[in-house]
Amino acid sequence: MKILVTGGLGFIGSHTVVELQNEGFEVVIIDDCSNADVKVLEGIQAITGKLPLFEKIDLRDKPMVAAFFARHQDVEGVIHFAASKAVGESVEKPLLYYENNIGSLVYILQELSKKEKARFIFSSSCTVYGQADEMPITEDAPVKAAESPYGNTKQMGEEIIADTCKVTPGLHAIALRYFNPMGAHPSTEIGELPIGVPQNLVPFITQTGMGVREQLAVFGNDYPTPDGTCIRDYIHVVDLARAHVVALQRLLNAKNEQNYEVFNVGTGKGSSVLEVIQSFERVSGEKLNYKIVDRRAGDIVSAYANTKKANEVLGWKAQSTLDEAMKSAWDWEKKVRNN
Ligand code: UD1
Repeated sequence: MKILVTGGLGFIGSHTVVELQNEGFEVVIIDDCSNADVKVLEGIQAITGKLPLFEKIDLRDKPMVAAFFARHQDVEGVIHFAASKAVGESVEKPLLYYENNIGSLVYILQELSKKEKARFIFSSSCTVYGQADEMPITEDAPVKAAESPYGNTKQMGEEIIADTCKVTPGLHAIALRYFNPMGAHPSTEIGELPIGVPQNLVPFITQTGMGVREQLAVFGNDYPTPDGTCIRDYIHVVDLARAHVVALQRLLNAKNEQNYEVFNVGTGKGSSVLEVIQSFERVSGEKLNYKIVDRRAGDIVSAYANTKKANEVLGWKAQSTLDEAMKSAWDWEKKVRNN
């Protein structure tokens, strides 16, 4: 069965392609290579023994999207990762984010709406909750006003899918609200490849550990948390990738009678920035050079998932501990730097 994975050369996309191929799905990847390298295909092949189909397409090009679906009429499901994801850049270039993240989504849904039956999985984010009032966060928690155009594209994306599903009974969709993905495939064949200075905590830590960055700045230690640093729910990217496969299987079995559902995808465990640093020091045996600096604008205090819905409805649960995820991130960093 053929599944389209947009953004399949990216961090979460590539790990999901591996899990799909391991489950016997035939995968076709669309990626515009704006933030990923075609060499990722070799990593996927090394792990799974199979080279996925690949087409370099910019999904803002509506006729190209239509032509793709005309060529691949046997695509039975789409997992849509392709999007721009830098929060700061989205504030600088809002129209780029709306065009890229919303345009591509609309064009794909238009093509899927023409099919008698279609399944669609959307990469959403815990960012839709903003600073939630209660922890852990359930899917019923209110969606708060977005802090950035990037966050807004996730909220709008969910609404666009929900509205489309209401009038398209043949379309079955799931939005997965990711918490904080980290780590790499244990084979070290694929992993995260941030371009330039990493904005996210874990790649900044591993690069600092390798001496690529001099020092990690910890953004604030005066938050109302046990050690004063912010709390997040860090999930191993392989666990996150597997959540896509089980969500797809649910859609293929047409078990979701509502035809649109959302799920949190996290571990359910919150870790502070200092706990993440301690995890790095445990698994690497290295001391991390860090200092406490002022808070970062826009950061929320705490966000971790209630995973009951995913556990019960999808039968999915994160397997890896923070240390396991950190070890995979560290092994990957060492491999990238030593090559
Ligand atoms: C960020 C995005 C979020 C996006 C997610 C994807 C912002 C405000 N939010 O979430 O919209 O969905 O990435 O992964 O950018 N930290 C440091 N020093 C650093 C980097 C981070 O102390 O150099 C701290 C942050 O203050 C935060 C934690 O580490 O407490 C995690 O930060 P980060 O990896 O950027 O993720 P989020 O801010 O949770």
